Amino acid sequence: MRAPGTPTIRLTIARSPHELATLAADAVVEALPGDRAPVLGVATGSSPSGVYVELARRQAAGEIDLRDASAFALDEYVGLPDGDPHSYRAVVDEQVVVPLGLDPARVHVPHGSAADLAAEAASYERRISEAGGVDVQILGIGRNGHIAFNEPGSALDSRTREAELAPETIADNARFFDNPDQVPRRCVTQGVGTILDARRIVLVAQGEAKADALAHALEDAVSPAWPATALQQHADVIVIVDEAAASSLTPEARAAAGVGIR
Ligand code: F6R
Repeated sequence: MRAPGTPTIRLTIARSPHELATLAADAVVEALPGDRAPVLGVATGSSPSGVYVELARRQAAGEIDLRDASAFALDEYVGLPDGDPHSYRAVVDEQVVVPLGLDPARVHVPHGSAADLAAEAASYERRISEAGGVDVQILGIGRNGHIAFNEPGSALDSRTREAELAPETIADNARFFDNPDQVPRRCVTQGVGTILDARRIVLVAQGEAKADALAHALEDAVSPAWPATALQQHADVIVIVDEAAASSLTPEARAAAGVGIR
């Protein structure tokens, strides 16, 4: 338990995938600035796909208009050729750029094929700050507690950099490839510190495979062993999960759902 006065993570346990996507989209929309074009932080992977579908539905219904938004992806594999369908650039184009009608020139994904990855990482940080920072970061969590590709042991003040994928991540992401040997071993990822600079963070997690990581993230002391614990240091984090992902939380943490965990 953290001391009174420390930031509160707001947790909601959704009753269905539809409710999860709806609540997450609400949390995103609520954080959009009213007076300028928004800057979105977008995760790839399975977790946020329903949220993008819901945002696109709201835009088609005329409830929101994100067409002038910029977006920054969390990470990209190193070693895939440009245009590879497994690349996160391709995923972001398919799940975010096209459905939301964003201008691809304003949607940034680290170039995993850059010759100088350190320069690419530094330029990515610069582009985020030149855009004015991320208004709302949509985030998933790995079953080892990673956020973006900040694997266990990552510094909690890390910035965008080249990094190595953990064996669990390679195994988990093999489902997107024909053969596990095709999963890249390296990536360019926003750092934990980069992610914490977003003004709001909306984390979504579904399924029992995430239960352990979620319990560590919300209930452990902050530590690089579980990079997602760093979210406890942020003032505006909204966590929306399904019942299975919430299944390892202590009764105290579950009781705080809807009112926030301290
Ligand atoms: C994706 C990313 C990862 C995923 C995480 C969960 O850009 O940075 O941290 O959010 O691995 O992936 P899924 O949602 O596929 O379970």
